[in-house]
Amino acid sequence: MRTLPVLRRLAERIEGAEALDPLGEKLNAALSAVPRPAPVEDVLSGTPVGHPLHPALVAVPMGAWVSVPFLDAAGQDDAATRLVGLGLLAAVPTAATGASDWLTTNSAERRVGLVHALLNYAGIGSYLVSWLQRRRGRRTAGMITSTLGLTFVSAAGWLGGHLAYAQGVGVDTTAFESFPEDWTDAVAEADVPADGMASAQVGGVPILLARTGGTVVALGDRCTHRGAPLHEGDLRDGCVHCPWHDSVFALADGEVVSGPATRPQPALETRVRDGRVQVRRVEQRGLRSNVAGH
Ligand code: FES
Repeated sequence: MRTLPVLRRLAERIEGAEALDPLGEKLNAALSAVPRPAPVEDVLSGTPVGHPLHPALVAVPMGAWVSVPFLDAAGQDDAATRLVGLGLLAAVPTAATGASDWLTTNSAERRVGLVHALLNYAGIGSYLVSWLQRRRGRRTAGMITSTLGLTFVSAAGWLGGHLAYAQGVGVDTTAFESFPEDWTDAVAEADVPADGMASAQVGGVPILLARTGGTVVALGDRCTHRGAPLHEGDLRDGCVHCPWHDSVFALADGEVVSGPATRPQPALETRVRDGRVQVRRVEQRGLRSNVAGH
């Protein structure tokens, strides 16, 4: 079965809708001005759990709200009202994590994320009205507005799927990179500065090289968060700081020290032969079966 052309065209229209940019820029500036201490940003991004938190939290309000029509049909008015309220409470952290993710998007991803958010806000507003109507005993009106809310959040959910599965927002940008299985020449050891970074292409994949603890180490150069070239960032205290959103990765093993990145940088094994740095992938990486070019 093919994707419905109308859906594909709709996604393409939103991706290219530059008219959304002024609103997106204003909202981005307003949200960026809200103070977010690094630990809070890490939690909102999902750094402690190793994946974006937003998609997991979405299950709570959606699960509650999808259940409401069934309770309405069964005449369970009080239970339906409580689920509408539970969904509203759960929507607060869900929206906060989504906003945090959206702040680090640009261009087409930012436009789709903006429409996704606006639809969700319309859905939340509808459910808020529904909850108030239900509390006042206006059952039919409450059912109509909750149905409207479900329509909004379902449309938003479809766009959320487009963001993740078509545009790759939240996906480890190195997931499909193929690093060499055997020792492969990367760069002259002398070209790796004592207090800076070098970059090289190995098998078509960008590699970052730096020195720590007296040895040369190698990481994937493409930031796992949104794909920034890490060698254009800063080196501090044995870590590399991403130039785009300041995620921090340990040079020794690529682990995330602070977000918004949620996934570690791929770390490669290194050795020096005849003044040349050679690299190869670590065994764990070789277990993957869906890397590009394989
Ligand atoms: S691209 Fe966002 S932290 Fe690196």
